Amino acid sequence: MSQNNSTRSILLRIFKNYIKKHSQKISISIVCMIIVSATTAINAWMMQPVLDDIFINKDESLLMIIPLAIFFIALIKGVSSYIQSVMMSFVGYKIVADLQNDMFDSLIRCDVSFFSKTNSGTLISRFLADVGALSRGVHNVIINIIKDFFTLLFLIGVLFYHDPNLAWISLLIFPLAIYPISRIGKRLRKISKSTQIGFGILTKRLTESLQGIKTIKSFNAELMEKGKVEKEVDNIFQLTYKSSRINSISRPLMETLGGLAIAVIIYVGGSQVIAGTTTPGTFFSFLTALLMAYQPIKSLASLNATLQMAMAAAERIFSIIDTKPLITEKSTNKDIYLKNDTAYNIKFSKVSFSYEESKKSTLQDINLNINKGEKVALVGYSGAGKTTLLNLLPRFYEIKRGKITINDINIRELSFSFLRNHFSLVSQDIVLFDDTLKYNICYGQKNISNKKIFEACKKAHCDEFIKKFPKGINEIIGEKGVKLSGGQKQRIAIARAFLKNSPFLLLDEATSSLDSRSEKKIQTSLANLMKNKTSLVIAHRLSTIIDADKIILLHHGKIVEIDSHKNLLRKSKIYKDLYELQFKNKK
Ligand SMILES: Nc1ncnc2c1ncn2[C@@H]1O[C@H](COP(=O)(O)OP(=O)(O)O)[C@@H](O)[C@H]1O
Ligand SMILES: [Mg+2]
Repeated sequence: MSQNNSTRSILLRIFKNYIKKHSQKISISIVCMIIVSATTAINAWMMQPVLDDIFINKDESLLMIIPLAIFFIALIKGVSSYIQSVMMSFVGYKIVADLQNDMFDSLIRCDVSFFSKTNSGTLISRFLADVGALSRGVHNVIINIIKDFFTLLFLIGVLFYHDPNLAWISLLIFPLAIYPISRIGKRLRKISKSTQIGFGILTKRLTESLQGIKTIKSFNAELMEKGKVEKEVDNIFQLTYKSSRINSISRPLMETLGGLAIAVIIYVGGSQVIAGTTTPGTFFSFLTALLMAYQPIKSLASLNATLQMAMAAAERIFSIIDTKPLITEKSTNKDIYLKNDTAYNIKFSKVSFSYEESKKSTLQDINLNINKGEKVALVGYSGAGKTTLLNLLPRFYEIKRGKITINDINIRELSFSFLRNHFSLVSQDIVLFDDTLKYNICYGQKNISNKKIFEACKKAHCDEFIKKFPKGINEIIGEKGVKLSGGQKQRIAIARAFLKNSPFLLLDEATSSLDSRSEKKIQTSLANLMKNKTSLVIAHRLSTIIDADKIILLHHGKIVEIDSHKNLLRKSKIYKDLYELQFKNKK
């Protein structure tokens, strides 16, 4: 019952959002399908005059007319089925395109946390395989329902026209076959679900193995990876094989029953022809119609299976389209209050945060004031929560308690574009796109002059290595920027920050991949960048700490000290330890 309900509501939704707008094309297509159906039945009916009048009665006048009529009918059938097929392909592919656009539109809005919960392989497989299955399903169902239904209707018309008694006998046999076939559909739906999950895992395994190829080789883990992929491939093999095996039952079942029907018809019809109550033409026309009815009956019987598989795909697709971000912006925002400000201060008041999966608070009771133009350094052991704290500012994650304000305006009251425009984040893991250097440096910005790009590159000390590429700034840097060293990637990210020129700077160990020499160069540029800006810097080297206005020491998600380098060194054991471990020898 509930399954029927959900099937109905999914169908309704597909119809409303994806099919209805093509009603004109579908109507034309339906008319063509009906014409095709009628021509099929006419062809079966024509068997009677062909046999009786031409072959048996040797009527010469019909010798010209009937072949001409048959050719003419074939022509009409050809044109109609061409138009129908073109129209329906358009509708089918358009549904794919619309669904994919809707899915991506929804995905790109999802919270950052959604992507740590959902594996990208699953998402990609929904994007490709599920959408294909759904569109094929819709396409087949429409064609099945219209074309096969009418073909069958007209053919049954021919059967009854020729011999109602024989028609009844043959019709009684077919429904027997439809019941088991519709049951098969249910099982197929279940298998289809597992198959899609399998494809998702396989995609994930493949991307992971291909991206981690160096790690795999250095750990001699090729066999292990091979085993993992083999397991998934085998799983998919089992499932697809099972599904096809179940599917294969329907054909022999139909054929056996069809054979039975034909045997009975030949016996009964044959005795009528021998007794002279029926002409051979009528009998053969009847038999032709019956044989032709096999195909539409078969596809109508598997209609449910097709539909069930399409519904399973639709459910998964809509679950993505319906994913709503938990972090949202308000319909009315307070951007305007900050629009004319040139300097900002940030305040954390009693902020607590935990990642959904872990119940323990990652950040607890954070009270922090970052004044206009200040440079604040964040230090603490790895895992203390430094990166997490930075990620709260652009609202990548939502805080559980407390509030964060910019010039006394809660960041929740600001629009995403306004808020995120105010932060330049240079993080540990820099994401570069497989495109040109220029594209990567200007990412997200419109109409940037070459002069500005050049300046930003110079300030970030990118200009020298960019020049060395054969195509300079138009060099394509490969997947994830494989053509660049870690330090070069970081300098690209810093150049991005120069171009973005936001009032807040968030640096998350931004210079960690640089050697001391390049870092010194960049330190001066970063200092320039930080001028007149408010910055929150996760310290990696001592130089960032010494000239910070204040240093925040984070320990197990809590702020334990806020003070200057000198004072901290004197009074904090943790700081002294960190300093000796991490900073001192890198001076
Ligand atoms: N996406 C995430 N989901 C769940 N836990 C996370 C996530 N990112 C970080 N953590 C956890 O939060 C804690 C703080 O991490 P992080 O802020 O990255 O530390 P730091 O930058 O100080 O090294 C760690 O215990 C880490 O395991
Ligand atoms: Mg970190």
